[in-house]
Amino acid sequence: MMRVAAVLAVAVALVAAVIAEETGGDDAPRPHIFMVIVDDFGWAEVGYHRSEEYKQDVQTPTIDALVQEGIELNRHYVHYACTPNPCQPGCGMPQNMTGVAEHLQSAGYATHFVGKWDVGMTTPQHTPKGRGYDTSLNYFGHGNWMWSEAEWQGSYNHRSDLPPCEPPACFKDFWETDKPAAELNGTQYEEAIFRDRVYSILEQHDPSTPLFLTYASKVAHYPLQAPIEYQEKFSFIEEPHRRVYHAMVAFLDDNLANFTSLLKSKGMWNNTLMVLTSDNGGYVKSFLGDCDNNTSHGYACFNGEAGANYPLQGGKYSTLEGGVRVNAFVSGGFVPEERRGTREDEMVHVADWYATFAALAGVDPTDHRAAQHNLPPIDSLNIWPLLSGANVSSPRQTLLIDPHALIWGKWKVLHGNVIEANWGGPQYPNASTADDPIENYSRNCSQGCLYNVHDDPSERTDLAASEPEQLQTMLQMLQLQAQSIWSQPIGQIDPACSTAAMDRYNGFIGPWLDVDGQLL
Ligand SMILES: *[C@@H]1O[C@H](CO)[C@@H](O)[C@H](O)[C@H]1NC(C)=O
Ligand SMILES: *[C@@H]1O[C@H](CO)[C@@H](O)[C@H](O)[C@H]1NC(C)=O
Ligand SMILES: *[C@@H]1O[C@H](CO)[C@@H](O)[C@H](O)[C@H]1NC(C)=O
Ligand SMILES: *[C@@H]1O[C@H](CO)[C@@H](O)[C@H](O)[C@H]1NC(C)=O
Ligand SMILES: *[C@@H]1O[C@H](CO)[C@@H](O)[C@H](O)[C@H]1NC(C)=O
Ligand SMILES: *[C@@H]1O[C@H](CO)[C@@H](O)[C@H](O)[C@H]1NC(C)=O
Ligand SMILES: *[C@@H]1O[C@H](CO)[C@@H](O)[C@H](O)[C@H]1NC(C)=O
Ligand SMILES: *[C@@H]1O[C@H](CO)[C@@H](O)[C@H](O)[C@H]1NC(C)=O
Ligand SMILES: *[C@@H]1O[C@H](CO)[C@@H](O)[C@H](O)[C@H]1NC(C)=O
Ligand SMILES: *[C@@H]1O[C@H](CO)[C@@H](O)[C@H](O)[C@H]1NC(C)=O
Repeated sequence: MMRVAAVLAVAVALVAAVIAEETGGDDAPRPHIFMVIVDDFGWAEVGYHRSEEYKQDVQTPTIDALVQEGIELNRHYVHYACTPNPCQPGCGMPQNMTGVAEHLQSAGYATHFVGKWDVGMTTPQHTPKGRGYDTSLNYFGHGNWMWSEAEWQGSYNHRSDLPPCEPPACFKDFWETDKPAAELNGTQYEEAIFRDRVYSILEQHDPSTPLFLTYASKVAHYPLQAPIEYQEKFSFIEEPHRRVYHAMVAFLDDNLANFTSLLKSKGMWNNTLMVLTSDNGGYVKSFLGDCDNNTSHGYACFNGEAGANYPLQGGKYSTLEGGVRVNAFVSGGFVPEERRGTREDEMVHVADWYATFAALAGVDPTDHRAAQHNLPPIDSLNIWPLLSGANVSSPRQTLLIDPHALIWGKWKVLHGNVIEANWGGPQYPNASTADDPIENYSRNCSQGCLYNVHDDPSERTDLAASEPEQLQTMLQMLQLQAQSIWSQPIGQIDPACSTAAMDRYNGFIGPWLDVDGQLL
């Protein structure tokens, strides 16, 4: 026993030494890091996850090529939903936790954020600038209207992209580093505004300084909106949610082509690590949101996406694979040549990018500020040794999704009532359509359900009865790990948030507590 432990310790030390040599301190490679987060991007919404027969709906040539030149992350997990309303105090990331951009900034990176923030704006410290981004162009909520930047207020709100829409009837949700983006709202399609900003950041960037750029696209979260010429490319799709959704994805794909060609022409691509992931699975509902075609911008859909996660089960809000296992890859010239064009089946969690980026930048990812304020440490593991090929296994072997769902290697246990327990088909519409939504199905896992998600990614065969010991082990692990969950109380929507939007920001939402004397 002792001897095994000693051997293990030596092995660990060796691995640690290799990692230190590869990524540590002064010798850190410090690549440019381009992080792309796509919103509600269903598993079947990329060309590389579709068979030839069903490819027509999905036009993602840039993404497909980037995957082919990079590493497909076949088991990349995320949480199944986004965060509370930004006007709720305490929403999002706790004030005294350190964001990944702060680490990279301290390592000498130029840091920029473009797109959806959605991790809080209670105080200036909660905003991108307060989290270590030199600049930002962002909205704070879950989504906004893409031709006006009006705040999206929920499933059943009025069409606030149509006039008359002036505060306080609707606020604008658009922010630029430390003030409202009052010159930019309403000027063109939002994803085009983001494209121009990312492009100008890249254009102005001095390649000798390492760059950390996060682009959190509005695509393809509701409300669904896209330029008419993109909608027309998909005129053969009858269902308007589906038509506009694919139009949005095609727009994003063109944006990515634009950015990667500029990175190449600036000679930055050969030293860039590009990461793309979705924030959660595709949103399978559609009956919540009407669509209409009475604006100058063609169809717009209020809510719902009729998302496609085939062959995975469930979608956004579900602990099933369709909710938590998402499209993801790394690409760019920083990916070692021998790893390009491969598929990684080891498990990765979105939280692991934190420690991974810090390691590449040569900084310690430990969150000392959080520790000072009795907040929990980071839950992030450096996966660069896995991606670079230095280690064949992922350090990420267990993954707690929530108090009712845990993955351990190939095994997954679910406990309690599981929502959206049904499958869509290879092409919309199919078994799960607007009239027969997946969300109407649930599974009773009160005794625990057990799946081998490596061999059975669609979670069709419950092994609880045939593997009772494995089930008990997993249920015990789940119970134990669930005790480690830390959460903070979220307050009610604070009316002072609207007051600040009116009095301080001329109709735009923004931080409303501890504002004076800080950052702004
Ligand atoms: C965060 O830290 C600052 C500085 O120590 C402190 O003033 C503030 O109260 C803390 N915030 C929270 C929510 O604990
Ligand atoms: C930007 O938003 C402000 C505040 O709502 C509004 O007054 C202005 O007209 C908007 N700009 C455009 C071009 O829509
Ligand atoms: C990329 O976008 C920028 C900004 O909109 C534009 O000026 C440029 O022509 C585009 N380049 C390509 C190759 O599409
Ligand atoms: C990347 O390309 C540029 C320009 O072609 C060159 O100066 C630089 O040395 C290259 N960097 C790497 C890491 O290959
Ligand atoms: C657009 O259609 C919606 C219903 O889909 C309707 O409520 C609204 O009044 C219409 N707007 C205009 C300007 O026709
Ligand atoms: C939507 O409206 C536009 C302009 O009014 C029209 O050209 C287009 O054919 C309409 N699309 C559909 C699918 O009805
Ligand atoms: C390397 O792989 C081993 C299993 O083979 C794993 O236990 C360890 O955590 C990995 N180390 C790193 C740093 O990824
Ligand atoms: C619907 O999906 C199932 C798989 O979930 C597939 O077997 C079937 O062929 C599909 N039907 C249609 C009409 O696409
Ligand atoms: C599904 O559930 C929703 C509400 O949760 C309900 O409005 C709808 O009628 C249900 N559809 C079917 C086909 O049962
Ligand atoms: C789930 O099944 C258990 C028995 O295994 C039963 O006691 C419980 O009532 C069921 N729950 C629902 C919501 O059907």
